[in-house]
Amino acid sequence: MENNLFLDAAFSKQTERPPVWMMRQAGRFMPQYWEIKNKYSFLEMCKTPEIAADVTMLPVDLLGIDAAILFSDILVTGEAMGGDLSFTQGVGPKFANPVRSEADIDALATDCLDKLQYVADAIKVIQQRLNGSIPLIGFAGAPFTVMSYLVEGGSSKDFKLTKLLIHNHPELAHKLLAKIAKVTTDYLNLQIEAGVNALQLFDSWALALSWNDYQEFSHQYNQQIIAGLNRTNLPIISFCKGSSVFAPIMAEAKPDVISVDWNADLLNIKKALPAGIAVQGNLDPHILYADQPVIKAQIHKLFERMRGENGFIFNLGHGIMPDIPFDNVKYAIEVVKEFRY
Ligand code: CP3
Repeated sequence: MENNLFLDAAFSKQTERPPVWMMRQAGRFMPQYWEIKNKYSFLEMCKTPEIAADVTMLPVDLLGIDAAILFSDILVTGEAMGGDLSFTQGVGPKFANPVRSEADIDALATDCLDKLQYVADAIKVIQQRLNGSIPLIGFAGAPFTVMSYLVEGGSSKDFKLTKLLIHNHPELAHKLLAKIAKVTTDYLNLQIEAGVNALQLFDSWALALSWNDYQEFSHQYNQQIIAGLNRTNLPIISFCKGSSVFAPIMAEAKPDVISVDWNADLLNIKKALPAGIAVQGNLDPHILYADQPVIKAQIHKLFERMRGENGFIFNLGHGIMPDIPFDNVKYAIEVVKEFRY
């Protein structure tokens, strides 16, 4: 690899500056994304390896980040299991056949890797394009977060149906979570075989859960998945909104990196973790709407706090919003790349 900053930091080795990539770095804030998006649907983009590679490469070529992330979505596992998935502009993701009964859970497939082969094909095309320059991060949704979309039928503010399921019918929730965890493990192993250099598990909506429910309905499945990966020298990043609170539990699943939301003081989180677990984060993405001197000052403030710490990857506390100015994202990355410890 020509640029080892990301992998070194992920394995808690010393780096001359923090590596940088951003969640949702290939997305709607980029005018070049729209040039492609106007011609195809989102799922067509994900399922056509050459297009998925074109989009993955946009932030590599235009922003100069230190790691690329596969262009796909966390909900493709739910689709492969039998979910009727669509993405509509302004509406977001929808499953037309939400899971509402035990029969619906039984109907979901767990031997469905053939339906995700397009992801392996995309990874191979992307690695040819990257040509050893920077690492490629693969990813999947964590079972709790994917379950919430399957049960709600789409995005939700309060996760009412998901919470009713875990509280009134915990045995059914566990049956569903176990099926998703099995598919997710197989799917991430497929990505490893296809050639990714790192993996991130997105448990975006874990924040909705109490401490006890997080342990029972999220953490234990994430732990199973991480333990089931066939990997050598390939770091696992565990992300959730709620990591400010759940980081000590997340650490028990033994990821190499914990990706932290923007609420916490990153150094305090890191100091409370076992040695050898790196942290990723945790700028509030809303900072990227602000004036450039503010962006620079906020990034430097975070870096001063983290000075002297090995095992720090700069990222946002959550994904880039679609209306954040492109020039501000580019500027933030330049600020990171000019910094030296
Ligand atoms: O980070 C990247 O650039 C890689 C690609 C990526 C996408 N989604 C592309 C995408 C990744 C890593 C994801 C993960 C994802 N998808 C998450 C976890 C990350 C997070 O933000 O917490 C979640 C919860 C989803 C589910 C999802 N997909 C939602 C809720 C939406 C709609 C969002 C919205 O603002 O409308 C999507 C669609 C989606 N996934 C888009 C992209 C680029 C937008 C599709 C479009 O062009 O309309």
